[in-house]
Amino acid sequence: MAKQYSSDNQARISAQPRLHQSAPEIQPYGTVNHLLPLELEEPVRLEMTERLNPLLADTITLRDLYKKSHWQVAGPTFYQLHLLFDKHFSEQSELVDAIAERIQLLGGVSLAVAPDVAETTRIARPPRGREEVPVQLSRLLDAHQIIIRDCRELARRASQIGDDGSNDLVVSQVLRTNELQVWFLSEHLVNMPLVEAQDDVYKVWLLSSQ
Ligand SMILES: [Fe+2]
Repeated sequence: MAKQYSSDNQARISAQPRLHQSAPEIQPYGTVNHLLPLELEEPVRLEMTERLNPLLADTITLRDLYKKSHWQVAGPTFYQLHLLFDKHFSEQSELVDAIAERIQLLGGVSLAVAPDVAETTRIARPPRGREEVPVQLSRLLDAHQIIIRDCRELARRASQIGDDGSNDLVVSQVLRTNELQVWFLSEHLVNMPLVEAQDDVYKVWLLSSQ
């Protein structure tokens, strides 16, 4: 018996990586672990994970929209927008991780890969090709608006059902980051003269407002 155990053990110990393994999943999507020492009942955690996953899908989509814009931007503002889009990409990446890990710590299962994200996001799919800067900016702002609206609803509901952690994540991190990024983008859509001040435009505005 001892010899048998020894030969089995030797068979298992090897430097050869075990490749191409598969097994049934250990937790289906859309479920939460039954018991966790979080002082949050299972129905609360289930509802929050169901609401956080669409927010995650939208945030992944916006993150990727920023990289698309970073790569494909063109024109006289190329350099500053190229850098700004990448900065916002990095900030959105941090939000993606924070939301996904919130879902996991609540006992749920986070969305992760592109086909699942594409099926879930509420942000319109952009064309594969390149677009003008004002269109890129508008597309990003529309995506932010969807996320900001969702944040406010989600945060209110989280507060109602006692999930203060999700409320804090959504307000302090997701909402505040998105609001700030909206400001940085929307200021680029103000029609300002680049070289010569157009004081006559101001006079027309003054006359029309009297
Ligand atoms: Fe880059």
